[in-house]
Amino acid sequence: MNFYRDKLVYITGGSSGIGLSTARLLASYGANLIIIARDEKKLSDARDDISGFRKSSVQTVEFFSMDVANNAEVEAKVPELVQKYGVPDVLMLSAGVGTADYFENIRFDAFDRVMKINVYGPRNCAQAFLPFMKDRGGSLVILSSMAGLIGMFGYSAYGTSKYAAVGLAECLRSELKRFRIAVSVVCPPEVDTPIIVEEAKSLPVEGRAVKSMAGFLTPDYVARVIARGVARKKFLIIPGFVARAMYFLHRVSNGTISRTISDMVVKRARKKSAKSRVAGK
Ligand SMILES: NC(=O)c1ccc[n+]([C@@H]2O[C@H](COP(=O)([O-])OP(=O)(O)OC[C@H]3O[C@@H](n4cnc5c(N)ncnc54)[C@H](OP(=O)(O)O)[C@@H]3O)[C@@H](O)[C@H]2O)c1
Repeated sequence: MNFYRDKLVYITGGSSGIGLSTARLLASYGANLIIIARDEKKLSDARDDISGFRKSSVQTVEFFSMDVANNAEVEAKVPELVQKYGVPDVLMLSAGVGTADYFENIRFDAFDRVMKINVYGPRNCAQAFLPFMKDRGGSLVILSSMAGLIGMFGYSAYGTSKYAAVGLAECLRSELKRFRIAVSVVCPPEVDTPIIVEEAKSLPVEGRAVKSMAGFLTPDYVARVIARGVARKKFLIIPGFVARAMYFLHRVSNGTISRTISDMVVKRARKKSAKSRVAGK
């Protein structure tokens, strides 16, 4: 894809999952990549991995350790990064964490951590890069989720953070247009990455059943959809036909269809789980 040739792309969360798959893909299109996350070992392994996908050996692939939830750190490190590598043409904010449980089990600290990483993370990075990007335009990509478009059982913390990410993206789309910065927000259903392994440990059976309705995608597929959508300056990017169809039904019925189906699925999952508990006794 010509859009990415020689472009400088920064990806937070670029050491794993969707961020890593997108970095590999954009490297194969000729982009220069700076990946950001916290764990240096994972970052360094990802840098070597992404380098193998480059179209040419002159392309830069570098990594940088930064906690996106820590605003003081982001404010101090971003100017340093820009001075060293340059102003991003594409800034993709994929760093995020998952959590799922019954609301009554999600203590304040767990809720707070998800909000700090998934909401303040993109907020901190967008604000720190903006002074540099606003002179020349570019693309800003925020990773939200289907859980940021449709409320889901078990996702009171994660869903709240991802609805906020959609809200942030909506406002920035409108505000940053005058700087020729195109904003995209990506809302995938479940994707096969390490985030879901951690989340599965406490995901309620009802949440598992509801989540399965929207489909299951590979990170490579999601990366292709993101790359295409961003190059076309698309605002709302929903990877996967089933997820797009679900969101369409949700919108046209003002939420009635998705809520009705969700309630039925939750009821069935609870019955099934109660039956298997009795059978297990
Ligand atoms: N996988 C899914 O089912 C799915 C579905 C919809 C939306 N999403 C969203 O897509 C994005 C990427 O998720 P993924 O599935 O690719 O997850 P992943 O494989 O677990 O990757 C998450 C990345 O974020 C980084 N990260 C986490 N907290 C960070 C922090 N405080 N500062 C800097 N980097 C941080 C991680 O590295 P370190 O831990 O080393 O920092 C890692 O590189 C997330 O925003 C997620 O909510 C995922």
